Amino acid sequence: MIVAIDGPAGAGKGTLAKALADRLGLRHLDTGGLYRATALQVLRAGGDPADPATAERAARSLDIALLDSPDLRTAEVGNAASVVAAVPAVRQALLDFQRAFAATPPGAVLDGRDVGTVVLPDAPVKLYIVASAAERARRRHEELLARGEASIYERVRVEIEARDARDAGRAVAPMRKAEDAVEIDTTDLTPDQVLDRALAAIDARS
Ligand code: DC
Repeated sequence: MIVAIDGPAGAGKGTLAKALADRLGLRHLDTGGLYRATALQVLRAGGDPADPATAERAARSLDIALLDSPDLRTAEVGNAASVVAAVPAVRQALLDFQRAFAATPPGAVLDGRDVGTVVLPDAPVKLYIVASAAERARRRHEELLARGEASIYERVRVEIEARDARDAGRAVAPMRKAEDAVEIDTTDLTPDQVLDRALAAIDARS
């Protein structure tokens, strides 16, 4: 069983992916973490995430231990991740890891931007998770405050919209809904309700 979950930042993909993996006994990969780790490696070395050669080198020599770094979830790293993710050679370097992860028994839930369209186009179940920009910004803002980071709602909203535009507008593997994906709008749903809808979609496909 392989479940591919895509959608914009803050829509609830990560929460759903973890809950689904738990419920179905599958492994979980947050593919955004790979782009974040690449960005963090560049930033820590004092490099420029917008320089394609620097970003590619980081992706090729990625230290997987960075996936557990507490710095991975900061807004700075999220924005830099979106920048390195637009570099085709970075995406290529991270592709094999994602496919190998999905192919390892007993199967997996992968969440990101291009899992259903590029990484695993043959995944039997694809979900596309969306929510209004206002609600996604509100969730991210609360998350940052809960972690003790300084956060201004309006700024989070502007950043989330800029990130959407960059992720959906890039030439290679842009964020988009796969033709055969089931869309779930989480704006007015609780995490449990989202999980129920996803399980229903999975039942309908199997
Ligand atoms: O989901 P996230 O916020 O952790 O993702 C960080 C960035 O990584 C996101 O802005 C775009 C990029 N990304 C991507 O291009 N493709 C993926 N499959 C996952 C994330």
